[in-house]
Amino acid sequence: MATNNQDETPSKPSAAGERILVVDDDAIIASSLSEFLKLEGYDAVSASCIADAIAELERKPAAVVITDINMPKGDGFELLRTMRQRFPEVVPIVVTGYGTIESAVEAIKMGAYDYLTKPIVDDEIRLVVQRAVGQQALLRENRTLKQQLGMRFSLESIIGNDYRMQRVFELVETVADTRTTVLISGESGTGKSLVARTIHQISNRRAKPFISVSCGAIPETLLESELFGHVKGSFTGANADKPGKFKAADGGTLFLDEINSASSAFQVKLLRVLQEKQFEAVGSNKTETVDVRVILAANVDLKKEVEAGRFRQDLYYRINVVNIPMPSLAERLSDIPRLSDHFLKKCRAEVGKEVLGFTPEALAVMQRYHWPGNVRELENAIERAVVLTKGRFISPDDLPSSLLESPPAGAAGRREDVWSPMPLKLAIEEPEKRIILAALKANQWNRQVTAQQLEINRTTLYKKMKRYGLEFETAGATG
Ligand SMILES: Nc1ncnc2c1ncn2[C@@H]1O[C@H](COP(=O)(O)OP(=O)(O)OP(=O)(O)O)[C@@H](O)[C@H]1O
Ligand SMILES: [Mg+2]
Repeated sequence: MATNNQDETPSKPSAAGERILVVDDDAIIASSLSEFLKLEGYDAVSASCIADAIAELERKPAAVVITDINMPKGDGFELLRTMRQRFPEVVPIVVTGYGTIESAVEAIKMGAYDYLTKPIVDDEIRLVVQRAVGQQALLRENRTLKQQLGMRFSLESIIGNDYRMQRVFELVETVADTRTTVLISGESGTGKSLVARTIHQISNRRAKPFISVSCGAIPETLLESELFGHVKGSFTGANADKPGKFKAADGGTLFLDEINSASSAFQVKLLRVLQEKQFEAVGSNKTETVDVRVILAANVDLKKEVEAGRFRQDLYYRINVVNIPMPSLAERLSDIPRLSDHFLKKCRAEVGKEVLGFTPEALAVMQRYHWPGNVRELENAIERAVVLTKGRFISPDDLPSSLLESPPAGAAGRREDVWSPMPLKLAIEEPEKRIILAALKANQWNRQVTAQQLEINRTTLYKKMKRYGLEFETAGATG
């Protein structure tokens, strides 16, 4: 290694002690380079071929890898490929022979952070390594930030301002870091699966698997083997040992969707695993223990199922420790502007169309509909509208015709006859909101006139509009 100008040594790297792996088939180059790096304060190690380098990285991750390109047993490009797949946070630097700039360019394209040309000059390597270590610190920091953001994002990906949704958020946050079994109940499309996944993502189990099993989609005869696994020969077709989902979810979360469709024999087994965290694979007498957090979802009222004798009472009590009831969309029509906006942003990026929002008429139509398919139906309607619309704002014409059909007489398509206990003050909100919306619409959103007609003062009207998400300042904006 050539040596120049020792006096101009840049200040010692602050990241001293960082691990650096030198890969070169030439033992003399490898050791002199790592000796130099050790003197610089790094924890330098060397490897003489790709396989050794990978083994070394597996043993202990490095901040930076400096690799030769031309080596007899697998070249540097191969190492770059493996690093990109398996060690994306290690920063690679390549060393090329004099006059082979093409391979340096190729290496950069493949993800190398920088390159050094032989003969390697001390100052050059000092600088390049220092920069690479800095880059690695940045990668590390980014990852932590992303993780933190990921946590925030995951809660923010559930949209809802309605008081029932506020309750959902509180419960999700409260139970996330516990091992409590959680039962999420609600109609199809209300966000049960989304909530289950979110609980896992914000929990301390997030780095471990989230495994989802739809109990309704798997034939009853296979469900047990699917969850607990089976041993070879335990039934026709069991040609090899197969671990089940409980095992796969060890350390993480198992989401049992549509639990109401599980057979009673299966319910017995489930009760045991929930109580004792123990089970046996089908055909095996070896008891296995797992650490799994179980979340269940039901799209029918399980209590009624128990009363009808279709669901075991003991299991019901066991899983109903924390119940998160998901409100139907019809119960929280005031969330429609926010939800619509969320789905609009999500799909206009995918579709690549510059759709800015909804006309007040379109929003009014959406807020009058009864949404039997809940949030999923809303999401689909908006996706369709974004594809179809010719304007910058989605209008009623862009919405599925089912939304425009006049709602059933009297009930306005809503479920006022279905009673769930709540304070009168809250029960009055929906009809009040509907009346205000109708009045605003009839008056082209003129608040002065609307307030006069309703015989309330304008401030009261403003407050109520804000509360119900009826804020359409400018025509077409979604508020
Ligand atoms: N509050 C919400 N905010 C944002 N998106 C939501 C919300 N609720 C549901 N969604 C979206 O609506 C769709 C349906 O939700 P999800 O699949 O979670 O419903 P589900 O209750 O599990 O339905 P099913 O009973 O049919 O399994 C998903 O794309 C989901 O991301
Ligand atoms: Mg679901």
